Amino acid sequence: MEIKITETTAPNAKPDAATLGFGRIFTDHMFMMDYEPDKGWHDARIIPFGPIVLHPAATVLHYGSEIFEGLKAYRRADGKVQLFRPMDNIRRMNDSAERLSLPQIPEEMALEVLLAFVRHEQDWTPSAPGTSLYIRPFLFGNDETLGVHTVHHATFVIIASPVGSYYKEGINPVSIMIEDADVRAVRGGTGYAKCGGNYAASCRAGERAEEKGYSQVLWLDGVERKYIEEVGSMNVMFKVAGEIITPKLTGAILPGVTRRSCIALLKEKGYTVSERLFSVEELQRALSDGTLEEAWGCGTAAVVSPIGRLAYKDKEYTVSGGKIGPVTQYLYDTLTGIQWGKQKDPFGWTLPL
Ligand code: COI
Repeated sequence: MEIKITETTAPNAKPDAATLGFGRIFTDHMFMMDYEPDKGWHDARIIPFGPIVLHPAATVLHYGSEIFEGLKAYRRADGKVQLFRPMDNIRRMNDSAERLSLPQIPEEMALEVLLAFVRHEQDWTPSAPGTSLYIRPFLFGNDETLGVHTVHHATFVIIASPVGSYYKEGINPVSIMIEDADVRAVRGGTGYAKCGGNYAASCRAGERAEEKGYSQVLWLDGVERKYIEEVGSMNVMFKVAGEIITPKLTGAILPGVTRRSCIALLKEKGYTVSERLFSVEELQRALSDGTLEEAWGCGTAAVVSPIGRLAYKDKEYTVSGGKIGPVTQYLYDTLTGIQWGKQKDPFGWTLPL
């Protein structure tokens, strides 16, 4: 596919690695292409990073027709840049598009434009330990009418941001509050899709948790408020009396690429991983009788994040003595070792540019 490139006339200086944080600094360019039923995806372009002009009736502004992805490019010690499991993100993006009635992008085309954009911006991939180039593809409905219907016109954009840690705690344990009032998703809804609305609806509980001193909330299922689901920015895993448990993909949970990678790494190491329903009562029991050995979250932005404190109904529990546990550390080291090319990649997960 032809991609037209317009270079910026005002390139920015690359940021100091110490100032990165998450998603605040952007590279000099962005990728865009448009969809119309008779033309398909067309007008692929890399243009200077800047505002997107929308018709005031654009579907996304009224009915939330938007999906997104998150993946990272890593700078290896030899200076080369590589992506981690990009096809997994592309496939999930199309699953999300299908759920939101947005046009899908043929996999080969999606990979081609992603690679073209990341190659163009690769100088922005930082090299300091723990840093990477976070890539955010997003796709939204752009019909210029207020009727509620399947989207016909859509726009696909990719932006990129050099990042450090998602949580201010870095690899130190985060504290999480189990939310028992709001719910994130229900089965049959959009929980498995990476759509903006899921995140918009999570902010109220997130704010309440922050006011109480917790980083994020852990969601329970939307029907019985009984089963553990996910944190929103990451999937969760627990080690209880030797068994590694992660909530099964019921349709209400995001099928995380990092979740899938952690399961593969754990199985390869000989651990039993149970993808099953895990109730908050079972978790409370394990917290009270000391059989909860470790808890951690995993996601592209969050990487592998130890959970050091858990609160439920105004009761607070310390996990793993508030420290990172050995399995969490193993996963963090192995996963990031593969991502940054410090370790062999027996799974074929990395794709050098
Ligand atoms: C990611 O891990 O890439 C995410 O999309 C989570 C988030 C920052 C919303």
